[in-house]
Amino acid sequence: MEITLDRSIKKPIYKQIAEQIEKGIISGELPSDHPLPPERKLSKKLNVNRSTIVTAYDELQSIGLVVRKKGSGTYISTNIWGLSHKRIPNWERYVEDGSFFPNLPLVQKLRNETQKNKMINLASGELSPELLPSDQLTSILKENPFHEHLGYDHPLGNEGLRETISKHVETYKKMVVRPESILITSGAQQAIHLIVQCLLKPGDTVAIENPSYSFSLPVFQSAGLRTLLLPIDEYGVNPEDIISLQKKHRIRMLFLNPDFQNPTGTKMSLERRKRILELSSEYGFPIIEDDPYSLTSFEGEIGPTLKSMDKSGNVLYISSLSKVVASGLRIGWVIGPHKVIERLSDGKQQVDFGHSIFPQWIAGQFLGSSQFDQHILDLRKQLKERRNVLVSALEILAKNETNFFIPQGGIHLWCKIKQEIDEYKLLEESMKNGVAFVPGNIMGSKMGFVRFTYGRGDKQSIKEGVCRFVRALQSFDRQ
Ligand SMILES: Cc1ncc(COP(=O)(O)O)c(C=O)c1O
Repeated sequence: MEITLDRSIKKPIYKQIAEQIEKGIISGELPSDHPLPPERKLSKKLNVNRSTIVTAYDELQSIGLVVRKKGSGTYISTNIWGLSHKRIPNWERYVEDGSFFPNLPLVQKLRNETQKNKMINLASGELSPELLPSDQLTSILKENPFHEHLGYDHPLGNEGLRETISKHVETYKKMVVRPESILITSGAQQAIHLIVQCLLKPGDTVAIENPSYSFSLPVFQSAGLRTLLLPIDEYGVNPEDIISLQKKHRIRMLFLNPDFQNPTGTKMSLERRKRILELSSEYGFPIIEDDPYSLTSFEGEIGPTLKSMDKSGNVLYISSLSKVVASGLRIGWVIGPHKVIERLSDGKQQVDFGHSIFPQWIAGQFLGSSQFDQHILDLRKQLKERRNVLVSALEILAKNETNFFIPQGGIHLWCKIKQEIDEYKLLEESMKNGVAFVPGNIMGSKMGFVRFTYGRGDKQSIKEGVCRFVRALQSFDRQ
């Protein structure tokens, strides 16, 4: 576009330039993502200082009309909504400055890549469609009339569902809990979020497992918490490490996922569970027990959960239907002292006014039905078979290249790559071959690990996924 300058008027030259470019954008003459002339070139053309062009571009950037791309130049923004003179917010800056942290770019990329049809997904931490009780849920919908109240529900969540959960945790987890001590949440993820937001403040120190569930990490960071890392071995977190940390820092809260931990698949030993409960009482820090996986135990041995052993009310217990029924129902719960549950419930009211009644109703129907028990037995069997397929494929195809712990439940396998390798590059190469996994580093500080999820794919695709992964791995040997 042509820019003409009038040096006889009072308006500064940079403003004249900025205004004419803005007009060009509004009229559509300069389309979105179109590059603006390089500063040096335009300054020569208009016979002005380069700094005048820089100021003009800065002005356009501050109102969100252009973006600076490092090393590449200045472009018309792709993000211009509701154009009107000088009133366009700089969305780029808002997006960057928000206090709630975004997911890591790699997590975002994985989310996009795993949507692609041909990609074998050993990355997403969920059950595959064949493992979901879709037929059972359909028959519940067909056979049961829905008579629930459709207004805002009880602040703690649907009463019927809380009564059912109270019976469920007594049957399966030996926990005696009244419905008033249960808060229904949108998955375990919201429970973690509410606990962090309602019970902690910026600067507090929390101890977490290393490695640990990656989607909890930005929640801690966004809340300004300091995280201390507790290494995991095959029996879970070592109580001695908690003592060492406590001597140097004051732990405000301890987050644990004792059963079939995400990502390592380990189950904490009974001895350690007892000792950690003692430490919690001795030092006075609460434990958040995050337990979405214990029901999947292949041999049917569950827990005992820390909550079931807790005599003094030190444990807040979180669970969810995501890994045992369906992640799309978004049903989770927190169990704890009444005062805490009320506080979290008050927080949830402010966030979303409570969970939608439909998923609560159907979850309650299924959890309370005789079909649930059979579903869990089938699920364990199927998951065990998929774990076996993954283990034997790795043993046959990558015995010399990998080491791993064989999980006895859950949906994840944590695998060490013996050769020194950048697991991000390995992921890039694997995705070119059509398989995705989670690089271990995004789940903690350890390099050279990858997480495979065997709950997400069927047996054939798990086998094929390992073949593709090994092909990618071996291509590094040849480099
Ligand atoms: C340990 C752990 N906690 C919490 C969650 C969140 O699950 P959801 O919000 O679907 O219940 C996950 C999901 O992968 C997990 O592995």
